[in-house]
Amino acid sequence: MGRFDELGKIGAMLPVIAEKGALIVTGLDKPNAMTIGWAMASVMWGKSVFVAPVRKSRYSHELLEAHGEFTVFVPSGDMKKTIAVCGSKSGRDTDKIALCNLTLEPSSAVRVPHIKAPGLVLECRVIYKTDYVEAALDDKVREMWYSGGNAGDLHTLYFGEILAQYEQA
Ligand SMILES: Cc1cc2nc3c(=O)[nH]c(=O)nc-3n(C[C@H](O)[C@H](O)[C@H](O)COP(=O)(O)O)c2cc1C
Repeated sequence: MGRFDELGKIGAMLPVIAEKGALIVTGLDKPNAMTIGWAMASVMWGKSVFVAPVRKSRYSHELLEAHGEFTVFVPSGDMKKTIAVCGSKSGRDTDKIALCNLTLEPSSAVRVPHIKAPGLVLECRVIYKTDYVEAALDDKVREMWYSGGNAGDLHTLYFGEILAQYEQA
């Protein structure tokens, strides 16, 4: 077993996240769940890192800025409805945890809790963050993802060191 073998598991889930979505949980007092469809997993600075791209308009962005920790949940079962609700309603005005009947459980390595349901869990601490630079984006990508209602709403990439990772039955 190598030091970074755990990355294989989340790496293999990246296409699943892109197709079905995953949830990130942020916030301490009133944790919030948000759907992500994009992600990166890699070795950086000698650490296993999960990168979550979060637009500046999201409530989750505010919580990440305040607390610098998040947990990731990749469901193994069907959570289509939850993924849709957590990907359309904002934690600013909706308690999505209650609305979706999600159970949260304390995490082992971070203060942010994680979702207790069948699937893969990552506990991450933000060790770097950077914003996409509009001028550096390919024209077609900018037009497709950062125009109209999304103009100026660039993603911040949150690099989370994976401090714990486990599968829940
Ligand atoms: C399938 C799917 C994937 C999504 N992926 C992302 C993403 O990677 N980054 C992001 O900022 N928003 C993404 N969203 C949108 C957010 O989940 C959505 O705006 C959410 O309501 C934000 O919640 P919050 O304001 O409580 O943080 C996605 C939505 C869906 C349905």
